[in-house]
Amino acid sequence: MSLPESVKIVEVGPRDGLQNEAAAVPTEIKVELIERLTAAGLPAIEATSFVSPKWVPQMADSAEVLARLRRPPGCSYPVLTPNLKGFEAALAAGAREVAVFAAASETFSQRNINCSIAESLARFEPLLAAAEAAGVRVRGYVSCVAGCPYEGAVAPSAVARVALELLRMGCYEISLGDTIGIGTPATMLAMLDAVGGAVSPARLAVHCHDTRGMGIANVYACVQAGITVVDASVAGLGGCPYAPGASGNVATEDVVWLLDGLGVHTGVDLVKLAETGQWISDRLGRPNGSRAGRALLALRH
Ligand code: HMG
Ligand code: MG
Repeated sequence: MSLPESVKIVEVGPRDGLQNEAAAVPTEIKVELIERLTAAGLPAIEATSFVSPKWVPQMADSAEVLARLRRPPGCSYPVLTPNLKGFEAALAAGAREVAVFAAASETFSQRNINCSIAESLARFEPLLAAAEAAGVRVRGYVSCVAGCPYEGAVAPSAVARVALELLRMGCYEISLGDTIGIGTPATMLAMLDAVGGAVSPARLAVHCHDTRGMGIANVYACVQAGITVVDASVAGLGGCPYAPGASGNVATEDVVWLLDGLGVHTGVDLVKLAETGQWISDRLGRPNGSRAGRALLALRH
């Protein structure tokens, strides 16, 4: 078995998790969540998104979240930006890293950001130029890498095309999103093979939603295949508002439990993380979606 010495976990709960909540989450809860995650040792926390509040009202307080957030060095706080308008607002709010998001499926692209794949890439060009001028790092997402809620199967070559284009445009890393958690280790590895044929695994991350319970299996398979950056969501929060039926990302606590057990370093304090997962679940009035987190806390009672 081939395993890396360490894996970087990108915590996406405050964005991917909270964007899908039916009730508005108070800004102070969002800020406290991010600060607790920072204290648990996460090296990167996707804090919010600068998207249209008409499309995603849950992220309407993005500038306020960044303004109130204490951001100690050693952790990055990327935010989603779909276009130049979002980037300019993020920059004005003090963002030092942003993420653009494209899809490997035309229908998902239309539903999610109201334009074709080609139009989305054209929108990102001026954003990437402005980011370079401002010294802001840009991460790229490709959604629907293992399947689309509207079109079904998605060809690995389509994923590779969009990923390569985002890298060519200047993204430092591409996060490959199994938006609807339809992938299995076999389909994820076939997709990684197609993308990895042209791109070093060092430039790739995986972003596995856990809709069918395959999240942790997919993370394990991808890490063995050379992936060293994994997105995850505390307490398994979330889903995408434009992917019907999609559940949250694989729970961060479960990923840390897996990697700790394999002797792969993450730098994350699992107890603090599990406490944070329970804390946010209680605030949202939801069951805690992390099995490792629940088990760890139950043992202490
Ligand atoms: P549009 O309606 O086509 O945009 O939306 P537009 O340029 O025609 O503008 C319409 C209105 O929106 C205007 O306002 C603009 O000013 C405003 P009005 O004149 O009507 O008052 N507007 C904005 N306001 C704030 N911030 C902005 C912005 N841009 C325009 N950045 C748009 C296009 C992309 C804006 C819209 O479709 C949108 O915001 N989509 C976001 C969808 C979203 O956030 N989805 C969830 C995140 S992606 C995800 O979850 C997947 C991921 O996790 C990976 C995975 O799991 O696969 C990343
Ligand atoms: Mg997602």
